[in-house]
Amino acid sequence: MRVGFYQFSPEFGNKKANLEKIRFVLRDTDADLIVLPELFSTGYQFVDKKEVLELAEKIPDGFTTGELMKISNENNVSIVAGICERDDEKLFNSAVLVTPSGFTGKYRKTHLFFEEKLFFEPGDTDFNVFTVGGINIGIMVCFDWIFPEAARILSLRGADIIAHPSNLVLPYCQEAMKTRSIENSVFTITANRIGNEKRGNKKELNFTGGSQITGPDGEILLKAGNNEEKLGVVDIEPGKARNKKLNKYNDIIRDRKKHLYSELLK
Ligand code: ACM
Repeated sequence: MRVGFYQFSPEFGNKKANLEKIRFVLRDTDADLIVLPELFSTGYQFVDKKEVLELAEKIPDGFTTGELMKISNENNVSIVAGICERDDEKLFNSAVLVTPSGFTGKYRKTHLFFEEKLFFEPGDTDFNVFTVGGINIGIMVCFDWIFPEAARILSLRGADIIAHPSNLVLPYCQEAMKTRSIENSVFTITANRIGNEKRGNKKELNFTGGSQITGPDGEILLKAGNNEEKLGVVDIEPGKARNKKLNKYNDIIRDRKKHLYSELLK
């Protein structure tokens, strides 16, 4: 299976241009799954809720999901991508999975970061795993990384690959995703963005790039630079994620001592 990410700097508010860029970059791409950054079609730093309401779209009936479905179908590639979602007056920082046969599912970001809390509702979709061509794909969005429960629950639900659209501004996640991969024995694809945004009176945000694909042993299979635009694709054997045995004696899922973890649910 060939999986990848596209790391770039979206143009704030210009959904058409951002989608044209994706269409151009993914033409003739030889990949089965490509992950795009969080909020890839709108940009990230909204100045107020009115702006978010204007840019947000329905899923799957909005412009961005519709275009992604066409790009997916034209290029025979599944895509996971972050989208600014509007459901009546409610706003979500969401991600979709589209495949060449159409819309497959969505995830609404659970753990909101910083000023996202001013605009978005915490996600209410739970952590779902979608099966595409026999491969199980879980989705989480950016700051979900700091809660190991997110990657854990996706893994317990059978994810072989965790697709992770991101707009990272802190420097820790890329390192931590190696651990998320090791502790769950899963592949992770973090698609981060580059560039910066300084909108209205807000403090400038610098996005950290360094998109990466990490294997179940924590090995970095592919990594982008901190400031380069990059389409990265690599061959993986997703079946490796189904072996949770670390050695002859340890299975990292079966060896858990659940009776000692009750505080996790308080
Ligand atoms: C983030 O969750 N976009 C840092």
